[in-house]
Amino acid sequence: MFKNHNQIFAAPLAGITDKPFRKLVRQFAPDVSMVTEMISCHSLVEGHKNCIRNFDNYEDEGNIGTQIFGADPFLMGQAAKILQDAGAKWIDINMGCPVPKVATRAGAGAFLMKDHKLAGQIISECIKSVQIPVSIKTRLGWDESHKDWEDLVRVAADCGASFVSLHGRTRAQGYSGNSRLPQKPNLPLPIIANGDIKNISDIEHVQNLGYDGAMIGRGMLGKPWLLGLFCGTCTEPDNIGEIVLKHLDYVIDYYGAKVGIPMFRKHVAWYSSGMKNSAQFRIQINQILDEQELRKIIKDFWSVC
Ligand SMILES: Cc1cc2nc3c(=O)[nH]c(=O)nc-3n(C[C@H](O)[C@H](O)[C@H](O)COP(=O)(O)O)c2cc1C
Repeated sequence: MFKNHNQIFAAPLAGITDKPFRKLVRQFAPDVSMVTEMISCHSLVEGHKNCIRNFDNYEDEGNIGTQIFGADPFLMGQAAKILQDAGAKWIDINMGCPVPKVATRAGAGAFLMKDHKLAGQIISECIKSVQIPVSIKTRLGWDESHKDWEDLVRVAADCGASFVSLHGRTRAQGYSGNSRLPQKPNLPLPIIANGDIKNISDIEHVQNLGYDGAMIGRGMLGKPWLLGLFCGTCTEPDNIGEIVLKHLDYVIDYYGAKVGIPMFRKHVAWYSSGMKNSAQFRIQINQILDEQELRKIIKDFWSVC
């Protein structure tokens, strides 16, 4: 296992690692590093009111990086500054998102793996705009015949970035197949390994490959305590239902019941996955709009007193 808990990272997961989820993860794993969901530089700079995370404050969130995406270096710098002022401990730039809305139409995310010059301009502008560290998160490359992530790491290093998170798939792979990270080559920046890391032996594997940290994404779904288990700062929970109820409290505090309850359904599905009668339970959950009714059915399913 890595020596320092801050070498274990919670990955950015859009629609999942929001403030309520991070608050829960933090209780189990006080010292890990976390990255927010990606935030559009346009939305942030223009202060879009319908995007609640544009107004998050990070002062009380421990070691947290805020992730931005965009293709305009100036706006990315402005966005980085806003997040620094909101208490981010570092800025992470998304250079791996394969979703067409981001990578093709907006020329951001994974597209920057194709345009290292623009990637460098964005990194430089962010670094110029803030006093906190700047990192990038990327993939092996655009597709099988363009696996040039090492070149992008060198660009990032030349611009002054502090580290890189690397997902062991190409943009073309999306999330299919297995994440395959090579032995870490000799590079000028620390590299955090990401992709399909779900248990301690996966962490040890990437450590043996020479990586400087491990970033965990989907392994946390329905298991916000997972990073705490890795760090030895918690044990397997006795009653998952109590955690589900606490998560629901945080979601409703943050979004309100009307928006929060429909958003919470996916979490309930992950928490209950593989349990007896979970399919039936999910059908019921998906129809409930009332907070008290939702609490009752969660209590009944997990036998919470
Ligand atoms: C639902 C979902 C949302 C994601 N959102 C983001 C994001 O906002 N920013 C980002 O850099 N990567 C995002 N990713 C990619 C993850 O951070 C991670 O690189 C990928 O899931 C592989 O790691 P894992 O196997 O541990 O999940 C997302 C992945 C999923 C499945």
